[in-house]
Amino acid sequence: MPENSDFLIWKESYLTGIKAIDEDHLELARIINKLYEACSFRTEKVSEIYISILKDLVNYTNIHFSREEKLMANFNYPGLEAHKKEHDVFKALVLKELKAIKYNKRVEPFNLAKFLKEWVMHHIAIEDNNYKIHFQQIGADVFK
Ligand SMILES: [Fe+2]
Repeated sequence: MPENSDFLIWKESYLTGIKAIDEDHLELARIINKLYEACSFRTEKVSEIYISILKDLVNYTNIHFSREEKLMANFNYPGLEAHKKEHDVFKALVLKELKAIKYNKRVEPFNLAKFLKEWVMHHIAIEDNNYKIHFQQIGADVFK
């Protein structure tokens, strides 16, 4: 059973001030927390609910990452390539885990949820904050 402290608790400091991005990030946090909830259903196999939430995560990160990448490209963010690489690694990792589940390889749902949460929190707090600083410095008209 996940503890309360396992869930992704949203903090004001995660806000970028860019409306669409903040809404995306909140949705990502919701999806991750749903994964934790799905860890409570203990079965032999990874539950179907958990798998469908992981698929939601794939779909939503695809939408969100391309939104961010477009935004960074529009404002010539110098860290775009490195940032995009992080996105690609994350997408590949989630797909790999989905495949592992499909082929009944051992996947620990709770550990996976925890890893994904930590990745997303770190990414928002550090990497996304870096482009926010760039946008502020160049006076980009992206903040609400
Ligand atoms: Fe990002």
